[in-house]
Amino acid sequence: MKLKIAVLAGDGIGPEIMEQGVAVVNAVARKFGHEIEYREAICGADAIDKVGDPFPEETFRTCMESDAVLFAAVGDPKYDNDPTSKVRPEQGLLAMRKKLGLYANIRPIETFYFLVHKSPLKHDIVSGSDFICIRELTGGMYFGPKKEGTDEAYDTNFYSRPEVERILRVAYQYARQRRKHLTVVDKANVLASSRLWRKVAQEMMGEYPDVETDFMYVDNAAMRMIQDPKFFDVMVTENTFGDILTDEGSCITGSMGLLPSASTGEHTPVFEPIHGSWPQGKGLNIANPLAQILSVAMLYEYFNLKAEGALIREAVNASLDQNVRTPEIQVEGGAKYGTKEVGRWIVNYIINK
Ligand code: IPM
Ligand code: MN
Repeated sequence: MKLKIAVLAGDGIGPEIMEQGVAVVNAVARKFGHEIEYREAICGADAIDKVGDPFPEETFRTCMESDAVLFAAVGDPKYDNDPTSKVRPEQGLLAMRKKLGLYANIRPIETFYFLVHKSPLKHDIVSGSDFICIRELTGGMYFGPKKEGTDEAYDTNFYSRPEVERILRVAYQYARQRRKHLTVVDKANVLASSRLWRKVAQEMMGEYPDVETDFMYVDNAAMRMIQDPKFFDVMVTENTFGDILTDEGSCITGSMGLLPSASTGEHTPVFEPIHGSWPQGKGLNIANPLAQILSVAMLYEYFNLKAEGALIREAVNASLDQNVRTPEIQVEGGAKYGTKEVGRWIVNYIINK
């Protein structure tokens, strides 16, 4: 297969983990005979510094002309504590999602057997938990009407019926391929937007009689995720709730650095870690490249290249099993491996398999 991949490394640890992600794309391509053409493009704080725009038109064009986007992370502390700055790196990410129509963000919350001891949850609660959060990504408060005045400000949690319907369809498709259990997470006891979600879901559930649908308030879901994460199979929710719940999810698996995601919708799909740009870790060769590498697995799987994805997952599991791990998940007294060393180990595993 021939694939054009847009490479958006962004800020902070982005370029370092991207280097390993691309090395894995190459190793797999060589092994299976795929032809990959890369196009690098700028985004985030890097792009603000260079051209004053966190998602420049040229980057957008590069994405549109590619089959997939491999994205790392954006964000820089110089913008975080300055509420007056007119342009922020995160706007680049939001612009990308909106302009590519990426309404469905797929975030698998998968626990790794070898890392269960790193989870803040007790072993028997966390081990074996495996669910997917389908986060709506182009609506809600992130994009609804806003006002930012000196004395008052608001964000509007706007959702239309078609927006809710299309994301629920994606969620049902995933549920059908898994354990056939869908949890719709909302705040219908308080929010009008949530009541629309619930109404639409109740109307649609009859079309999916093979899937068990249940409804849960978001506060309860946040609690349930740490009390009994194995309850969940597929969870679907609006943009803001999904943002918060998936950070919670990533943390119960033992490391923020482990979870990949896919964003799909109208145009080119994007594959990216769910973690941020971790500016403090930049240049230190300590960032965990696994979320980026697993994003590459999701990329191959998106194009139905199952064996390719499976080999990457196998290599990642083997690296964990062999204690080839970055410092935050290293077992006590274990050897020290940096971003590069973990990446190289996984590439070698793939090549020699
Ligand atoms: C995420 C991030 C982004 C979000 C930020 C960086 C805008 O936290 O992808 O979860 O809130 O969506
Ligand atoms: Mn987030």
